[in-house]
Amino acid sequence: MKTAVHTLLNSSKRGDVPPFIAMDVMAAAARMESAGKRIIHMALGQPATPAPRTAIAAAKAALEYGRSDYTSARGIPSLRDRISRYYRDTHGCDVDPERIVVTTGSSGAFILAFLSMFEPGDRVAVAIPGYPPYRHLLTALGCEPVLIPTHTETRHVLTPEALLASHRITPLKGVLVASPANPTGTMMSREALQKLMDAAKNAGIRFISDEIYHGLHYGVRATSAAELSGDIVVINSFSKYFCMTGWRVGWMVLPEQLVRPVERLQSLAISVPMLSQIAAEAAFDGCDEMDAVKCTYEDNRRLLIEGFSKAGLDRIHPADGAFYLYADVSRFDADSVNFAKRMLEEANVAATSGLDFDPVHGRAFVRFCYSGSTDDMREAVVQITKWLVRRG
Ligand SMILES: Cc1ncc(COP(=O)(O)O)c(C=O)c1O
Repeated sequence: MKTAVHTLLNSSKRGDVPPFIAMDVMAAAARMESAGKRIIHMALGQPATPAPRTAIAAAKAALEYGRSDYTSARGIPSLRDRISRYYRDTHGCDVDPERIVVTTGSSGAFILAFLSMFEPGDRVAVAIPGYPPYRHLLTALGCEPVLIPTHTETRHVLTPEALLASHRITPLKGVLVASPANPTGTMMSREALQKLMDAAKNAGIRFISDEIYHGLHYGVRATSAAELSGDIVVINSFSKYFCMTGWRVGWMVLPEQLVRPVERLQSLAISVPMLSQIAAEAAFDGCDEMDAVKCTYEDNRRLLIEGFSKAGLDRIHPADGAFYLYADVSRFDADSVNFAKRMLEEANVAATSGLDFDPVHGRAFVRFCYSGSTDDMREAVVQITKWLVRRG
């Protein structure tokens, strides 16, 4: 009987998603903090700043009026109009609000994209190093994530050659790219994005562009795939540039024929919370405030690159955007899980092993998130430098 109950409660194979190593770091950091230690947090990829004041004010006003209903599954029309205006103002392209669906963060959008675009067994390419939930979610949905390694020589950007080489071995149904990328921060040029999209289209590979770090670039502005084609899926979010991780709002720009299927899938969860959608719409009026936050990231990035280089941590991927540095730590420790653990215990700085992002080469890398305060980043450089000197 005991065994039968036990079997009844077993989780399914597809629900057996690997844990984030970053969470172990966070748990260890929390234990140290409860013992009185001050920890500098550079492990989790979330802004340390709250949502724009405009967003908070709009949410407060909506609460006053008791506005908290279900909304249309596609999202409130005025928010979809505002997102469409963003494409016109920022990217100079027309995106019909009818092709926009508001989602529960970009994470919700990935579920909708994968379900509406792929069948179980379909092979979908993702670049590594890359954001781990892409591959875990594909696996959970019965698809096969195909990990294509990217290299320093190509600035960790997925090339048409690498994509087509993989497609020739076993055909791919889709490809997902992010620019700026997590964990490297590297960005694709407009030409590189266009070439990759053309190669995918000619080979019959469906294209998904994760643009969650748009707005956070430190040189040339990121190109949206929506500027280049209407036959692809673009995913974006209010989590990063707008500092609204916990509000859980994102969006998709869809080809016309996917709008209804995605709407039907989205309606299974009814809608994104109305309050969050109201706040998100007002967030677009808070860009000056968010641009000032971005300037602190820019300072942090400069400070860390200079400080880390002096400390010998000079093998860092070109960080064009987002708020991450992906550093090769192999000259200090062949195992970055151990490096991150000791850095936490001995320098009180929490960062993440690259193994989360790249099961093949990630053991050589650590990802540092620099979305914290500039004072914390300065302190992190001091602590890490002293620690590396002590290690010899
Ligand atoms: C590349 C990338 N895509 C998507 C997400 C998910 O973000 P959200 O669901 O908050 O929009 C993240 C979060 O860190 C990310 O780094």
